[in-house]
Amino acid sequence: MRVLIVYYSFTGNTKKVTEFIAEYLVDKADAVNIVRLRPKQESRSFLGKCLSAFFKQKPDIFEEVTIPKTKDTLEKMEIKLSPSEFDIVILGTPVWAFSPAPAMNTYLDRCSGLENKDVILFVTYHSGRGVESCLNYMQSILAKKGVKSFKRFSISQFKVNDKDFILSKIKGIFTIR
Ligand SMILES: Cc1cc2nc3c(=O)[nH]c(=O)nc-3n(C[C@H](O)[C@H](O)[C@H](O)COP(=O)(O)O)c2cc1C
Repeated sequence: MRVLIVYYSFTGNTKKVTEFIAEYLVDKADAVNIVRLRPKQESRSFLGKCLSAFFKQKPDIFEEVTIPKTKDTLEKMEIKLSPSEFDIVILGTPVWAFSPAPAMNTYLDRCSGLENKDVILFVTYHSGRGVESCLNYMQSILAKKGVKSFKRFSISQFKVNDKDFILSKIKGIFTIR
């Protein structure tokens, strides 16, 4: 079982959740690769971020790849979008203005090789407004790319340090052979 986790995080909440998930999976899966999405350009203001998310802007992005199994190799590389070598793809983003963060929009738009894959979507959030519309939007884009099944969960920003809570979500979603 090979797992790819692709996420964006601005203030670190989604990163924290990703790290707990990866830590849980790393002994159980054959491979876990983590890809952090970094936009080449990003608005500095809250309003600018909201607008670019709300209008589903797609900035150019870098991927930073971490392979925890082989001790934190970190390489910056131009975007490599096909997750076809993985069995399970996990995508995580904060909710921004009821939407995914723009770097995730880019990934959703351009990724390929997801036919017949199992995809897990997760978001972190503050008020909780827009969680469902964000997840629905992500799912609608990926459904057009032939994804076989979706599982989804959401984590309040106030729970991102609660490892047991996060693991209960991920354990409830899939069991590793
Ligand atoms: C520009 C912006 C827009 C946001 N919009 C929402 C929103 O619509 N609904 C919500 O519940 N939280 C919203 N939040 C809160 C974030 O989703 C939340 O803090 C998240 O955990 C941040 O993740 P990160 O630390 O990985 O960047 C917003 C935060 C920012 C910066």
